[in-house]
Parts: sequence; C-alpha cells; structure tokens
Amino acid sequence: METIRIRNNVTTYMEELKQWAEHSKEKCLEEMTEFFRVRVDGYEDHMSVWQEAYEYLAKIVPKDAKTMLDIGCGTGLELDEILKNVPNVNVTGIDLSETMLKRLKEKHPEKNVKVRKGDYFKEDFGKECFDVAVSFETLHHFTAEKKEILFRKLYNSLKKGGVYIEADYLACCEEEEQLLFSVCAEKRRMEKIAEDVFVHFDTPLTPEHEIACMKNAGFLDVKFDACINGASVIIARK
Ligand SMILES: C[S@@+](CC[C@H](N)C(=O)[O-])C[C@H]1O[C@@H](n2cnc3c(N)ncnc32)[C@H](O)[C@@H]1O
Repeated sequence: METIRIRNNVTTYMEELKQWAEHSKEKCLEEMTEFFRVRVDGYEDHMSVWQEAYEYLAKIVPKDAKTMLDIGCGTGLELDEILKNVPNVNVTGIDLSETMLKRLKEKHPEKNVKVRKGDYFKEDFGKECFDVAVSFETLHHFTAEKKEILFRKLYNSLKKGGVYIEADYLACCEEEEQLLFSVCAEKRRMEKIAEDVFVHFDTPLTPEHEIACMKNAGFLDVKFDACINGASVIIARK
C-alpha cells in the first residue's frame, strides 16, 4: 500500500515533536473525564480550528440516514453541523463526560438526540441498528488492540450498507506513532498510572495502521478520504 501523506514537512514536524516531548517530560498526565470537566467552558472555542472539518464531515453523512451513533460526541460540535444537513436523524451520543453531554443536550432540546454517559469500549451499541456511525477527534488516545475491538462493535451495530465516518488526529509516520506511545508509557510508569485508566495524552496511529484496524474488524471497503487542518477523514462501509 502506498504511504498516505497527511503532512508535508515531516522532518521539521518530527524534530519539533521530539523537542516538545523532551520539554514536557515533567508535565503530569491528566485523567480523561477530569481533563474535559475543567475545560468545558472554553472547549468549543478551542475546537473551532476544526470548523471546516465539522462541515466536511456533515456533508458525507448520507442525507437519508435515519439513525446515527456518535461515539465521544462531547458537546456535539459535529452534530451541530450534521443536524443542519440531516435534521430528522435519530442520534445516540455516547461520552464519558457528563459535563460535555449536558452542554450538548442544552444546544439541541428540540432534536432527536439521546445521550448516554459511558465508556464506548464498554457500552453495548446493539446489532444492525444504525445507518451511520461517526467519531470526531476522540480516538487518538487508544491502542490498536482497543480500537480493533471498538471497530468490530461499530461494524456490528451498523445496518447492511451502513457507514462509519471517522475524523481524527493521525500520526504522519511510524516514528510519530512509536514516539508518542513510548512517551505516554514512560509517563504512566513514572506516575504509577494503570493501563486501564484513561488519560488525555495523544497517541495517534498512522493512517495505514488505523485503516488496518478497521479492516481487521470486518470493514472491507475502507477509504482514506481527506485531511482537513489535521483531522484525517476515513470512511468505512459495511
Ligand atoms: C476532543 S473531544 C471531541 C468531542 C466531539 N466529538 C467534538 O469534536 O466536539 C473528545 C471526547 O471524547 C470523549 N471520550 C474519550 N474517551 C472516551 C471513552 N472511552 N468513552 C466515551 N467517551 C470518551 C471525551 O469525554 C470527550 O468529550
């Protein structure tokens, strides 16, 4: 398979990333739910860098979708755009953070948006019940092993012909993937944080690795679609 290029200046980027890793050695890891709880007020402004990617994602969601699953929906920035294009879709949004889900519910009281507070690795998504599943900037903290299990659940939850659309931060090369996983593992070791505690530290996979996880999970038709301001869009069809 040809390498998927998501960054032009890989050499400079990797030099800067290594410097950043060195300088942030002393910085403690933050637990995932707490990370978002304390930042919820400035969160949507912070994420506005991805406005173009939210709009792009919304255009890919099939207009005739009746049911949609959004994992790691947060305050629902992608849903704000999707609901403009597909206003009657029944959405199930899953997120760890009660604070983020509360904001989402306040924004769309009149829409068919059901929220579930929970861990998407543990939540039951059901069988063949969604036309579309989406995730936006939520999966870049997890290992390939965990993702593969999650993608299998997503695959099973989609109806025949359904589609999973992911937009996320991916690593530009294997060196980036390996560097960030090893920095995170070292921090966990130093701070004595167990593997099963979710921390907000970026450990993206390369596009090839992410796609392989989706294919191993059962998706046969998986396409790298675009990279918009750092959000890589992958479309996986059942
Ligand atoms: C950067 S935010 C993105 C939120 C939303 N998709 C958006 O783009 O605005 C990541 C979200 O993923 C959620 N999250 C992270 N790990 C999760 C897990 N294991 N189960 C459910 N939600 C999770 C966080 O609580 C957070 O709300």
